[in-house]
Amino acid sequence: MRITIRQIREMKHKGEKITMLTSYDYATAKIIDGVGIPLILVGDSLGMVVLGYESTIPVTIEEMLHHTKAVVRGTKNALVIGDMPFMTYHISVEETLRNTSRFIQEAGAQAIKLEGGITIAEKVRRIVQCGIPVMGHIGLTPQSVHQLSGYRVQGRSPDAAAKLLRDAQALEDAGAFAVVLETVPAPLAALITHKLSIPTIGIGAGIGCDGQVQVINDILGSFADFIPKHTKQYVKLTDIIRKAVIDYFNEVKNGAFPTEKQSSTMDEDILAKLKK
Ligand code: KIV
Repeated sequence: MRITIRQIREMKHKGEKITMLTSYDYATAKIIDGVGIPLILVGDSLGMVVLGYESTIPVTIEEMLHHTKAVVRGTKNALVIGDMPFMTYHISVEETLRNTSRFIQEAGAQAIKLEGGITIAEKVRRIVQCGIPVMGHIGLTPQSVHQLSGYRVQGRSPDAAAKLLRDAQALEDAGAFAVVLETVPAPLAALITHKLSIPTIGIGAGIGCDGQVQVINDILGSFADFIPKHTKQYVKLTDIIRKAVIDYFNEVKNGAFPTEKQSSTMDEDILAKLKK
């Protein structure tokens, strides 16, 4: 039985920290699910850490659905959240609902996430009315990187902080079951967490949030192009992978791989006949 949004909400009220990780493929999702992480986000960070785009903006809905399906196949317990890519929830309510439903009906996700506060609250309300759980995402919203003039801390000025508070409240009022706070000052994130009755999930938002989310490639050290300040590398997979690839390269070159252990034998008589 998968985790439900009711259980996620209850975790906040019991003071139990909520963990969330991104995943983009079957094998990784299976490991995360097996550990008992309750929330798996198929983030549009896919575009940067898996597909090699410069930002999340080029990611298409077809790419997101493809990877969401793989993650759903690898999980039994976690709530899988599909991330709505750039401009798939802005043009009209009708188009938003159509795109949202694809994550649930075609890809098998249990919830969706989208970026924005007051400006998309009405869309959130309509999606929730259709029976689809919505996770909000405010603060540094990477799909607006050009409008924000880069990946910078949000909510530092009095006006910007007050606006973030209003955005968070608007998402709760619209029926979102949780909200991601990305790259906002820790005291502001703690205040928003205190004011909301739905859980906040922080990334670069300090310890005062109800939960934390990280990009799996960041905590595994498997994405070397850019290491965000808010991450902690629990292992440096790039070094481990590089060493394994070098060892393989050398062993093929010098004939040390494959050995008998990796090879199959066959009947000597059949071989002898073939040689005649
Ligand atoms: O796309 C993503 O991975 C995200 C998380 C960083 C919250 O939106």
